[in-house]
Amino acid sequence: MPGETNALNNLFGGELLARMDRAASISAKRHSEEIVVTSSVNHVSFGKPIPIGTTVTIEAKVSRAFTTSMEVFIDVWIDDDNGKKIKANEAIYTFVAVDSNGRPTKIDKVIPESEEEKKRYEAALRRKQLSLVLAGKMKASDATELKALFS
Ligand SMILES: CC(C)(COP(=O)(O)OP(=O)(O)OC[C@H]1O[C@@H](n2cnc3c(N)ncnc32)[C@H](O)[C@@H]1OP(=O)(O)O)[C@@H](O)C(=O)NCCC(=O)NCCS
Repeated sequence: MPGETNALNNLFGGELLARMDRAASISAKRHSEEIVVTSSVNHVSFGKPIPIGTTVTIEAKVSRAFTTSMEVFIDVWIDDDNGKKIKANEAIYTFVAVDSNGRPTKIDKVIPESEEEKKRYEAALRRKQLSLVLAGKMKASDATELKALFS
């Protein structure tokens, strides 16, 4: 809609970030059955502009659950002129399940089933380590799975 676009009449990036955050939080809440908070935005790629008036579909799925945190994959689709859904963007957010005092609380694991779910699940630990290293919460030397990529 007009209030949500940039000077080129495409969806403003921040609008999409907020919508992805909402969709991902629903996914994380459904999985954990707890209150969830956004802990980190790990990756966003605005691959295609989304012109004004476009129908947008946001799909969010927990790709891996750790002890209290979850990685959520978000795929954004738009309808083209023929009504066919094409992939426009994707993002990866991290959510943490918290108790009513805002303290991290334990959650159930995720069991990946499809090939894509298995691929995303496998790579999630490396992405978590990278995110923690970049946030200054983990020493690079301790990021063993991440380091293994380069050896
Ligand atoms: C998210 C929050 C509860 C985490 O609290 P904390 O004291 O850092 O807790 P921990 O260090 O135990 O981390 C909790 C989990 O988050 C993970 N985590 C923390 N920072 C992370 C980051 N930058 N990237 C990926 N994972 C991260 C930890 O690895 C841990 O995961 P695990 O338990 O599954 O192994 C706290 O930082 C917070 O309340 N942040 C604000 C959240 C918020 O308001 N979000 C909306 C933004 S406007």
